[in-house]
Amino acid sequence: MVNSRYLIKGGRVIDPETGIDGLFDIVIEEGKIASIENPQSAIPARHRSRSGEAGGRNPQSSIINHQSSIINASGKLVTPGLIDMHVHLREPGHEYKETIETGCLAAAHGGFATICCMPNTDPVNDNQSVTDYILKKARMAETVRVYPVGAISRGLRGENLADYGELKAAGVVAVSDDGNPVMNAQLMRRALEYSKGFELLVIAHCEDRNLTASGVMNEGTTATRLGLPGIPNAGETVMVARDIALCELTGAPLHIAHVSTEGSVRLIREAKARGLPVTAETAPHYFSLTEDAVINYDTNARVHPPLRTAKDRDAIRVALADGTIDVIASDHAPHTSIEKDLEFDQAANGMIGLETSLPLSLQLVEMGLMDLNDLIAKMSINPARILNLAHIGLKPGNPADLTIIDLEKKFTVDANTFRSKSKNTPFNGWELKGKAVLTMVGGKIVFDDE
Ligand code: DOR
Repeated sequence: MVNSRYLIKGGRVIDPETGIDGLFDIVIEEGKIASIENPQSAIPARHRSRSGEAGGRNPQSSIINHQSSIINASGKLVTPGLIDMHVHLREPGHEYKETIETGCLAAAHGGFATICCMPNTDPVNDNQSVTDYILKKARMAETVRVYPVGAISRGLRGENLADYGELKAAGVVAVSDDGNPVMNAQLMRRALEYSKGFELLVIAHCEDRNLTASGVMNEGTTATRLGLPGIPNAGETVMVARDIALCELTGAPLHIAHVSTEGSVRLIREAKARGLPVTAETAPHYFSLTEDAVINYDTNARVHPPLRTAKDRDAIRVALADGTIDVIASDHAPHTSIEKDLEFDQAANGMIGLETSLPLSLQLVEMGLMDLNDLIAKMSINPARILNLAHIGLKPGNPADLTIIDLEKKFTVDANTFRSKSKNTPFNGWELKGKAVLTMVGGKIVFDDE
Protein backbone atom coordinates (compact mmCIF):
# COMPACT_ATOMS: atom_id res chain seq x y z
CA MET A 1 0.00 0.00 0.00
CA VAL A 2 1.17 3.51 -0.73
CA ASN A 3 2.07 5.41 2.37
CA SER A 4 0.86 8.94 1.91
CA ARG A 5 3.32 10.55 4.35
CA TYR A 6 7.07 10.40 4.26
CA LEU A 7 9.88 12.20 5.98
CA ILE A 8 13.09 12.01 3.98
CA LYS A 9 15.65 12.78 6.59
CA GLY A 10 19.12 14.21 6.60
CA GLY A 11 20.06 13.94 2.92
CA ARG A 12 22.06 16.46 0.91
CA VAL A 13 19.27 17.97 -1.15
CA ILE A 14 20.28 19.38 -4.52
CA ASP A 15 17.76 21.16 -6.69
CA PRO A 16 19.25 23.21 -9.50
CA GLU A 17 15.80 24.76 -10.08
CA THR A 18 15.54 26.43 -6.67
CA GLY A 19 19.27 26.57 -6.02
CA ILE A 20 18.99 24.45 -2.89
CA ASP A 21 22.16 22.55 -1.96
CA GLY A 22 22.49 21.44 1.64
CA LEU A 23 21.20 19.20 4.37
CA PHE A 24 17.41 19.28 4.44
CA ASP A 25 14.48 17.17 5.51
CA ILE A 26 11.71 16.76 2.98
CA VAL A 27 8.17 16.12 4.10
CA ILE A 28 5.83 14.44 1.66
CA GLU A 29 2.08 14.35 2.09
CA GLU A 30 -0.57 13.04 -0.29
CA GLY A 31 1.95 12.58 -3.08
CA LYS A 32 3.21 16.15 -2.90
CA ILE A 33 6.16 17.92 -1.35
CA ALA A 34 4.79 19.53 1.81
CA SER A 35 7.95 21.18 3.06
CA ILE A 36 11.70 21.30 2.75
CA GLU A 37 13.20 22.22 6.07
CA ASN A 38 16.66 22.62 7.44
CA PRO A 39 16.75 20.02 10.24
CA GLN A 40 18.63 22.38 12.53
CA SER A 41 16.02 25.08 12.27
CA ALA A 42 12.58 23.60 12.09
CA ILE A 43 11.47 20.06 11.70
CA PRO A 44 7.71 20.31 12.02
CA ALA A 45 6.86 18.88 15.45
CA ARG A 46 4.40 16.42 13.99
CA HIS A 47 7.14 14.67 12.09
CA ARG A 48 9.38 14.38 15.06
CA SER A 49 6.49 12.76 16.85
CA ARG A 50 5.69 10.42 14.00
CA SER A 51 9.11 8.96 14.00
CA GLY A 52 9.00 8.49 17.72
CA GLU A 53 12.41 10.12 17.78
CA ALA A 54 11.59 13.27 19.65
CA GLY A 55 8.72 14.51 21.66
CA GLY A 56 5.26 13.51 20.66
CA ARG A 57 4.09 15.61 23.52
CA ASN A 58 0.94 16.72 21.86
CA PRO A 59 -1.41 13.75 21.85
CA GLN A 60 -4.28 16.05 20.95
CA SER A 61 -2.88 16.85 17.52
CA SER A 62 -4.93 15.09 14.86
CA ILE A 63 -1.89 15.02 12.57
CA ILE A 64 -0.06 12.81 15.02
CA ASN A 65 -2.54 10.09 14.35
CA HIS A 66 -1.30 9.67 10.81
CA GLN A 67 1.49 7.24 10.16
CA SER A 68 4.56 8.82 8.58
CA SER A 69 7.42 6.69 7.29
CA ILE A 70 10.95 7.86 7.70
CA ILE A 71 13.42 7.43 4.90
CA ASN A 72 16.93 7.87 6.19
CA ALA A 73 18.85 9.72 3.48
CA SER A 74 21.81 10.67 5.60
CA GLY A 75 25.06 10.46 3.63
CA LYS A 76 23.02 10.37 0.39
CA LEU A 77 21.98 12.82 -2.26
CA VAL A 78 18.33 13.76 -2.79
CA THR A 79 17.57 15.24 -6.21
CA PRO A 80 14.53 16.06 -8.32
CA GLY A 81 13.24 12.89 -9.98
CA LEU A 82 15.59 12.25 -12.88
CA ILE A 83 14.28 12.62 -16.44
CA ASP A 84 15.49 10.66 -19.47
CA MET A 85 14.11 12.37 -22.56
CA HIS A 86 15.31 9.75 -25.07
CA VAL A 87 14.17 6.16 -24.54
CA HIS A 88 12.95 3.41 -26.86
CA LEU A 89 10.24 1.39 -25.13
CA ARG A 90 9.52 -0.79 -28.23
CA GLU A 91 5.84 -1.24 -27.47
CA PRO A 92 3.69 -1.52 -29.51
CA GLY A 93 5.17 -3.98 -31.95
CA HIS A 94 8.52 -5.11 -30.60
CA GLU A 95 7.53 -6.42 -27.19
CA TYR A 96 10.11 -9.19 -27.46
CA LYS A 97 12.81 -6.48 -26.98
CA GLU A 98 11.09 -4.40 -24.28
CA THR A 99 7.61 -3.59 -23.08
CA ILE A 100 6.34 -0.40 -21.56
CA GLU A 101 6.18 -2.24 -18.25
CA THR A 102 9.78 -3.57 -18.34
CA GLY A 103 11.15 -0.30 -19.72
CA CYS A 104 9.44 1.67 -16.96
CA LEU A 105 10.84 -0.71 -14.33
CA ALA A 106 14.34 -0.33 -15.80
CA ALA A 107 13.86 3.46 -15.65
CA ALA A 108 12.82 3.36 -11.98
CA HIS A 109 15.84 1.17 -11.15
CA GLY A 110 18.10 3.64 -12.92
CA GLY A 111 16.74 6.51 -10.82
CA PHE A 112 14.42 7.99 -13.47
CA ALA A 113 11.01 9.28 -12.45
CA THR A 114 10.14 10.42 -15.97
CA ILE A 115 10.98 9.18 -19.45
CA CYS A 116 10.09 10.15 -23.01
CA CYS A 117 9.59 7.33 -25.50
CA MET A 118 10.49 7.55 -29.15
CA PRO A 119 7.92 6.84 -31.87
CA ASN A 120 9.80 4.16 -33.90
CA THR A 121 7.41 1.44 -32.76
CA ASP A 122 5.19 -0.75 -34.95
CA PRO A 123 2.81 0.85 -35.67
CA VAL A 124 4.71 4.11 -35.55
CA ASN A 125 3.46 6.66 -33.04
CA ASP A 126 2.22 9.11 -35.65
CA ASN A 127 -1.41 9.22 -34.49
CA GLN A 128 -3.68 9.53 -31.51
CA SER A 129 -4.51 5.85 -31.11
CA VAL A 130 -0.87 4.81 -30.68
CA THR A 131 -0.25 7.67 -28.23
CA ASP A 132 -3.40 6.67 -26.32
CA TYR A 133 -2.21 3.06 -26.22
CA ILE A 134 1.23 4.01 -24.86
CA LEU A 135 -0.26 6.27 -22.20
CA LYS A 136 -2.75 3.59 -21.16
CA LYS A 137 -0.01 0.95 -20.88
CA ALA A 138 2.17 3.39 -18.93
CA ARG A 139 -0.68 4.07 -16.50
CA MET A 140 -1.14 0.33 -16.03
CA ALA A 141 2.59 -0.10 -15.35
CA GLU A 142 2.19 2.33 -12.42
CA THR A 143 5.88 3.12 -12.14
CA VAL A 144 7.42 6.16 -13.83
CA ARG A 145 5.85 9.00 -15.80
CA VAL A 146 5.91 8.39 -19.54
CA TYR A 147 5.68 11.19 -22.09
CA PRO A 148 5.41 9.94 -25.67
CA VAL A 149 7.25 11.61 -28.55
CA GLY A 150 5.25 11.59 -31.79
CA ALA A 151 6.63 11.18 -35.30
CA ILE A 152 7.69 14.14 -37.45
CA SER A 153 6.54 12.34 -40.58
CA ARG A 154 3.89 9.71 -41.20
CA GLY A 155 5.35 6.23 -40.76
CA LEU A 156 8.79 7.88 -40.24
CA ARG A 157 9.02 7.83 -44.03
CA GLY A 158 10.12 11.44 -44.38
CA GLU A 159 7.44 12.20 -46.99
CA ASN A 160 4.42 13.80 -45.30
CA LEU A 161 4.09 15.46 -41.94
CA ALA A 162 2.11 13.72 -39.21
CA ASP A 163 -0.88 15.54 -37.71
CA TYR A 164 0.73 17.51 -34.87
CA GLY A 165 -2.58 18.91 -33.59
CA GLU A 166 -3.91 15.40 -33.11
CA LEU A 167 -0.66 14.22 -31.51
CA LYS A 168 -0.46 17.21 -29.17
CA ALA A 169 -4.06 16.75 -28.06
CA ALA A 170 -3.34 13.07 -27.40
CA GLY A 171 -0.41 13.97 -25.13
CA VAL A 172 2.89 13.93 -27.02
CA VAL A 173 5.49 16.43 -25.78
CA ALA A 174 7.71 16.55 -28.88
CA VAL A 175 8.06 15.17 -32.39
CA SER A 176 10.99 13.20 -33.82
CA ASP A 177 11.72 10.69 -36.57
CA ASP A 178 14.49 9.31 -34.33
CA GLY A 179 16.21 6.34 -35.87
CA ASN A 180 15.66 8.00 -39.25
CA PRO A 181 16.77 11.42 -40.44
CA VAL A 182 14.36 13.74 -42.23
CA MET A 183 16.37 13.78 -45.44
CA ASN A 184 14.14 16.29 -47.23
CA ALA A 185 15.15 19.78 -46.04
CA GLN A 186 11.85 21.29 -47.18
CA LEU A 187 9.90 18.76 -45.07
CA MET A 188 12.12 19.55 -42.07
CA ARG A 189 11.44 23.26 -42.62
CA ARG A 190 7.70 22.58 -42.64
CA ALA A 191 8.02 20.38 -39.54
CA LEU A 192 9.68 23.23 -37.65
CA GLU A 193 7.08 25.77 -38.81
CA TYR A 194 4.13 23.46 -38.11
CA SER A 195 5.38 22.28 -34.71
CA LYS A 196 5.92 25.85 -33.55
CA GLY A 197 2.19 26.53 -33.79
CA PHE A 198 1.52 23.63 -31.44
CA GLU A 199 4.42 24.41 -29.10
CA LEU A 200 5.86 20.98 -29.83
CA LEU A 201 9.62 20.57 -29.71
CA VAL A 202 11.31 19.07 -32.78
CA ILE A 203 13.99 16.52 -31.80
CA ALA A 204 16.36 16.02 -34.73
CA HIS A 205 18.13 12.76 -35.54
CA CYS A 206 20.96 14.33 -37.53
CA GLU A 207 22.26 11.91 -40.12
CA ASP A 208 22.84 12.28 -43.85
CA ARG A 209 21.94 8.85 -45.20
CA ASN A 210 23.86 9.45 -48.41
CA LEU A 211 27.04 9.88 -46.36
CA THR A 212 26.41 7.23 -43.71
CA ALA A 213 25.25 4.75 -46.40
CA SER A 214 26.18 1.20 -45.42
CA GLY A 215 28.63 2.23 -42.69
CA VAL A 216 28.54 0.31 -39.43
CA MET A 217 31.16 2.08 -37.29
CA ASN A 218 33.15 5.31 -37.17
CA GLU A 219 35.15 5.95 -40.35
CA GLY A 220 38.92 5.95 -39.88
CA THR A 221 41.94 3.74 -39.48
CA THR A 222 40.22 1.48 -36.90
CA ALA A 223 37.39 0.72 -39.34
CA THR A 224 39.92 0.06 -42.10
CA ARG A 225 41.89 -2.30 -39.86
CA LEU A 226 38.73 -4.15 -38.86
CA GLY A 227 37.55 -4.31 -42.47
CA LEU A 228 34.26 -2.59 -41.61
CA PRO A 229 32.56 0.12 -43.66
CA GLY A 230 32.83 3.51 -41.95
CA ILE A 231 30.51 6.39 -41.11
CA PRO A 232 32.25 9.78 -41.38
CA ASN A 233 31.78 12.54 -38.79
CA ALA A 234 30.32 14.64 -41.57
CA GLY A 235 27.43 12.15 -41.77
CA GLU A 236 26.17 13.81 -38.59
CA THR A 237 27.71 17.25 -38.76
CA VAL A 238 26.27 18.32 -42.14
CA MET A 239 22.76 17.61 -40.86
CA VAL A 240 23.39 19.52 -37.64
CA ALA A 241 24.46 22.46 -39.83
CA ARG A 242 21.36 22.11 -42.02
CA ASP A 243 18.97 21.89 -39.09
CA ILE A 244 20.55 24.89 -37.37
CA ALA A 245 20.05 26.83 -40.61
CA LEU A 246 16.40 25.74 -40.65
CA CYS A 247 16.03 26.69 -37.00
CA GLU A 248 17.30 30.15 -37.89
CA LEU A 249 14.96 30.34 -40.87
CA THR A 250 11.85 29.33 -38.93
CA GLY A 251 12.64 30.57 -35.42
CA ALA A 252 11.31 27.26 -34.08
CA PRO A 253 13.03 25.51 -31.16
CA LEU A 254 15.28 22.67 -32.26
CA HIS A 255 16.68 19.93 -30.04
CA ILE A 256 19.55 17.90 -31.44
CA ALA A 257 19.58 14.27 -30.31
CA HIS A 258 22.56 12.04 -29.49
CA VAL A 259 25.42 14.43 -30.37
CA SER A 260 28.60 12.45 -31.09
CA THR A 261 31.08 14.63 -32.99
CA GLU A 262 33.39 17.53 -32.29
CA GLY A 263 32.07 19.27 -35.40
CA SER A 264 28.47 19.12 -34.15
CA VAL A 265 29.56 20.57 -30.82
CA ARG A 266 31.25 23.48 -32.58
CA LEU A 267 28.15 24.26 -34.65
CA ILE A 268 25.81 24.05 -31.64
CA ARG A 269 28.08 26.26 -29.57
CA GLU A 270 28.15 28.87 -32.31
CA ALA A 271 24.35 28.69 -32.83
CA LYS A 272 23.76 29.21 -29.12
CA ALA A 273 26.18 32.14 -29.05
CA ARG A 274 24.07 33.72 -31.79
CA GLY A 275 20.98 33.28 -29.64
CA LEU A 276 19.23 30.60 -31.71
CA PRO A 277 16.72 28.40 -29.84
CA VAL A 278 18.90 25.31 -30.16
CA THR A 279 19.37 22.72 -27.43
CA ALA A 280 21.28 19.45 -27.50
CA GLU A 281 21.70 16.14 -25.78
CA THR A 282 24.32 13.42 -25.73
CA ALA A 283 24.30 9.89 -24.34
CA PRO A 284 26.69 8.36 -21.77
CA HIS A 285 28.32 6.10 -24.38
CA TYR A 286 29.57 9.14 -26.30
CA PHE A 287 31.47 10.52 -23.30
CA SER A 288 32.46 7.14 -21.82
CA LEU A 289 33.62 5.15 -24.86
CA THR A 290 35.45 5.52 -28.13
CA GLU A 291 35.46 3.49 -31.33
CA ASP A 292 38.02 1.23 -29.61
CA ALA A 293 35.04 -0.51 -27.95
CA VAL A 294 34.38 -2.07 -31.35
CA ILE A 295 37.87 -3.60 -31.74
CA ASN A 296 36.70 -7.07 -30.64
CA TYR A 297 33.70 -6.81 -32.95
CA ASP A 298 31.49 -6.38 -29.88
CA THR A 299 28.09 -5.82 -31.46
CA ASN A 300 26.87 -4.26 -28.19
CA ALA A 301 29.08 -1.32 -29.13
CA ARG A 302 27.31 -0.90 -32.48
CA VAL A 303 25.14 2.19 -32.26
CA HIS A 304 23.86 5.06 -34.40
CA PRO A 305 25.53 7.52 -34.46
CA PRO A 306 28.64 5.39 -33.96
CA LEU A 307 31.17 5.65 -31.14
CA ARG A 308 33.82 8.12 -32.28
CA THR A 309 37.46 8.98 -31.55
CA ALA A 310 38.98 10.16 -28.27
CA LYS A 311 39.04 13.69 -29.75
CA ASP A 312 35.28 13.62 -30.27
CA ARG A 313 34.68 12.09 -26.84
CA ASP A 314 36.77 14.82 -25.23
CA ALA A 315 34.90 17.52 -27.18
CA ILE A 316 31.59 16.08 -25.90
CA ARG A 317 32.92 16.24 -22.32
CA VAL A 318 33.94 19.87 -22.75
CA ALA A 319 30.55 20.66 -24.32
CA LEU A 320 28.79 19.15 -21.32
CA ALA A 321 30.97 21.14 -18.96
CA ASP A 322 30.54 24.49 -20.74
CA GLY A 323 26.78 24.15 -21.27
CA THR A 324 26.83 23.62 -25.04
CA ILE A 325 25.15 20.26 -24.43
CA ASP A 326 22.15 20.74 -22.15
CA VAL A 327 20.99 17.20 -21.50
CA ILE A 328 22.25 13.69 -20.86
CA ALA A 329 19.78 11.11 -22.19
CA SER A 330 20.38 7.38 -22.42
CA ASP A 331 19.02 6.62 -25.93
CA HIS A 332 18.05 3.30 -24.31
CA ALA A 333 17.70 1.06 -27.39
CA PRO A 334 16.90 -2.54 -26.45
CA HIS A 335 17.66 -5.36 -28.88
CA THR A 336 17.69 -9.10 -28.18
CA SER A 337 20.53 -11.55 -28.74
CA ILE A 338 18.74 -12.60 -31.96
CA GLU A 339 19.63 -9.17 -33.36
CA LYS A 340 23.00 -8.78 -31.66
CA ASP A 341 24.68 -12.23 -31.76
CA LEU A 342 25.52 -11.77 -35.42
CA GLU A 343 28.37 -10.64 -37.62
CA PHE A 344 29.09 -6.99 -36.80
CA ASP A 345 27.71 -5.67 -40.07
CA GLN A 346 24.49 -7.65 -39.62
CA ALA A 347 23.78 -6.58 -36.03
CA ALA A 348 21.17 -4.02 -34.97
CA ASN A 349 22.17 -0.52 -33.88
CA GLY A 350 21.71 0.54 -30.29
CA MET A 351 22.44 -0.21 -26.66
CA ILE A 352 20.41 -0.15 -23.47
CA GLY A 353 21.19 2.61 -21.01
CA LEU A 354 18.51 3.27 -18.42
CA GLU A 355 20.27 1.28 -15.71
CA THR A 356 23.79 2.59 -16.37
CA SER A 357 23.14 6.20 -17.38
CA LEU A 358 23.40 7.78 -13.93
CA PRO A 359 26.51 5.87 -12.71
CA LEU A 360 28.34 6.59 -15.99
CA SER A 361 27.36 10.25 -15.81
CA LEU A 362 28.55 10.50 -12.21
CA GLN A 363 32.01 9.62 -13.51
CA LEU A 364 32.11 13.10 -15.07
CA VAL A 365 31.87 14.53 -11.56
CA GLU A 366 34.45 12.06 -10.27
CA MET A 367 36.80 13.16 -13.08
CA GLY A 368 36.33 16.79 -12.00
CA LEU A 369 34.74 17.80 -15.32
CA MET A 370 31.45 18.97 -13.83
CA ASP A 371 29.96 19.64 -10.44
CA LEU A 372 27.04 17.66 -9.10
CA ASN A 373 24.56 20.50 -9.49
CA ASP A 374 25.35 20.80 -13.16
CA LEU A 375 25.09 17.09 -13.74
CA ILE A 376 21.77 16.80 -11.93
CA ALA A 377 20.46 19.75 -13.97
CA LYS A 378 21.30 17.93 -17.20
CA MET A 379 19.38 14.89 -16.00
CA SER A 380 16.35 16.61 -14.49
CA ILE A 381 15.46 20.26 -14.80
CA ASN A 382 17.09 20.94 -18.18
CA PRO A 383 15.02 18.29 -20.01
CA ALA A 384 11.94 19.43 -18.05
CA ARG A 385 12.44 23.02 -19.23
CA ILE A 386 13.22 22.03 -22.82
CA LEU A 387 10.07 19.92 -22.95
CA ASN A 388 7.98 22.46 -21.09
CA LEU A 389 6.96 20.00 -18.43
CA ALA A 390 4.91 21.26 -15.51
CA HIS A 391 6.12 21.11 -11.90
CA ILE A 392 9.87 21.46 -12.22
CA GLY A 393 12.04 20.89 -9.16
CA LEU A 394 11.63 20.19 -5.47
CA LYS A 395 9.16 22.88 -4.42
CA PRO A 396 6.36 22.65 -1.86
CA GLY A 397 3.17 21.86 -3.74
CA ASN A 398 4.93 20.01 -6.56
CA PRO A 399 4.37 16.27 -7.01
CA ALA A 400 6.91 14.33 -4.95
CA ASP A 401 9.14 13.07 -7.77
CA LEU A 402 12.63 12.52 -6.44
CA THR A 403 15.67 10.33 -6.62
CA ILE A 404 17.97 9.32 -3.76
CA ILE A 405 21.51 8.60 -4.87
CA ASP A 406 24.29 6.85 -2.98
CA LEU A 407 27.45 8.41 -4.39
CA GLU A 408 29.69 5.91 -2.61
CA LYS A 409 27.94 2.71 -3.66
CA LYS A 410 30.29 0.55 -5.72
CA PHE A 411 28.94 -2.15 -8.00
CA THR A 412 29.79 -4.25 -11.02
CA VAL A 413 27.53 -3.83 -14.03
CA ASP A 414 25.72 -7.13 -14.61
CA ALA A 415 23.13 -7.03 -17.37
CA ASN A 416 21.55 -10.20 -16.01
CA THR A 417 20.33 -8.21 -13.01
CA PHE A 418 18.77 -5.49 -15.17
CA ARG A 419 15.01 -4.98 -15.26
CA SER A 420 15.19 -4.28 -18.99
CA LYS A 421 14.13 -7.23 -21.13
CA SER A 422 17.23 -6.79 -23.28
CA LYS A 423 20.84 -7.13 -22.19
CA ASN A 424 22.68 -5.30 -24.97
CA THR A 425 25.15 -3.18 -23.04
CA PRO A 426 28.87 -2.73 -23.76
CA PHE A 427 29.36 -1.83 -20.08
CA ASN A 428 28.91 -5.34 -18.68
CA GLY A 429 31.57 -6.04 -16.05
CA TRP A 430 32.45 -2.36 -15.53
CA GLU A 431 33.15 -1.36 -11.94
CA LEU A 432 31.17 1.79 -11.22
CA LYS A 433 30.63 3.99 -8.20
CA GLY A 434 27.39 5.81 -7.40
CA LYS A 435 23.85 4.78 -8.17
CA ALA A 436 20.21 5.49 -7.44
CA VAL A 437 18.95 3.72 -4.32
CA LEU A 438 15.39 5.03 -4.29
CA THR A 439 13.06 6.51 -6.88
CA MET A 440 9.81 8.19 -5.91
CA VAL A 441 7.10 9.26 -8.35
CA GLY A 442 4.16 11.30 -7.09
CA GLY A 443 4.89 10.22 -3.52
CA LYS A 444 5.03 6.53 -4.43
CA ILE A 445 8.25 4.56 -4.05
CA VAL A 446 8.76 2.80 -7.40
CA PHE A 447 12.27 1.55 -6.62
CA ASP A 448 13.98 0.96 -3.29
CA ASP A 449 17.40 -0.67 -3.19
CA GLU A 450 17.32 -1.35 0.54
O1 DOR B 1 21.50 3.05 -32.38
C1 DOR B 1 20.37 3.48 -32.47
N1 DOR B 1 19.31 2.71 -32.16
N2 DOR B 1 20.19 4.74 -32.92
C2 DOR B 1 18.96 5.20 -33.20
O2 DOR B 1 18.86 6.35 -33.58
C3 DOR B 1 17.77 4.33 -33.07
C4 DOR B 1 18.00 3.28 -32.08
C5 DOR B 1 16.99 2.16 -32.12
O3 DOR B 1 15.78 2.43 -32.22
O4 DOR B 1 17.38 1.00 -31.99
